[in-house]
Amino acid sequence: MIKVKKISKIYNTGAVETVALSDISFEINKGEYVAIMGPSGSGKSTLMHILGVLDQPTTGEYILDDVNVSQLTDDDAAEIRNQKIGFIFQAFNLLPRTTALQNVMLPMRYANVPKEERIEKARKYLKMVGLEDRMNHTSNQLSGGQQQRVAIARGLAMNPSILLADEPTGNIASVQAEEVMNIFRKLNEEGHTIIMITHEPDIASHAKRIIHIKDGKIVKDEKNGHKLKAKTI
Ligand SMILES: Nc1ncnc2c1ncn2[C@@H]1O[C@H](COP(=O)(O)OP(=O)(O)O)[C@@H](O)[C@H]1O
Ligand SMILES: [Mg+2]
Repeated sequence: MIKVKKISKIYNTGAVETVALSDISFEINKGEYVAIMGPSGSGKSTLMHILGVLDQPTTGEYILDDVNVSQLTDDDAAEIRNQKIGFIFQAFNLLPRTTALQNVMLPMRYANVPKEERIEKARKYLKMVGLEDRMNHTSNQLSGGQQQRVAIARGLAMNPSILLADEPTGNIASVQAEEVMNIFRKLNEEGHTIIMITHEPDIASHAKRIIHIKDGKIVKDEKNGHKLKAKTI
């Protein structure tokens, strides 16, 4: 489903050149649950932006569902994102004085899904994340953990092939982080592909595969505690 081939990302800021990703290659199959781990500055967010088709690699190829999405126009990239990727951010990114139901309905509105269907799906996904009794609460009336669950429901609304989460538990209490991890596990059991970026080992341990990056390079790729053979890295 995901093929990353020899991707590098170089940022040019004035006279300074930063190599954020250096010749990275890996594959992720449909239905996998992968954590990408690494210290601050190792290139996690850069990789997340490329995987989410929010940014392009300087060199190398990113093949998503058999399509090379490395060098798309902004419009084409936006369409691929809407169709294929559900984003979950550390800071939730919900609209503040807007109900949970409306927040989940929003991406479907942009995609011109009929209103009845939007309401029905939004209710279904809010129920899935355990918020059936909070649908009409506005974001500011919800706890951090509940807001992140609304964001997960929103991420699911367009039935994406990949859920891409950047430090999804970074802004919430540990009890609520466990709830979010339970939801991810359930979604993965149902067949969703999940890629989660984190610097916390206990959060990463919920995934079935952990790709460790450091200084823009993959230093370890382990599945269920077993190191993958070099050829798959
Ligand atoms: N837009 C940018 N312009 C210039 N340098 C950047 C930019 N974004 C990230 N970097 C640099 O690239 C490296 C990797 O950053 P990042 O991907 O944000 O790491 P992480 O998310 O693991 O903390 C860092 O050295 C960072 O300073
Ligand atoms: Mg980051």
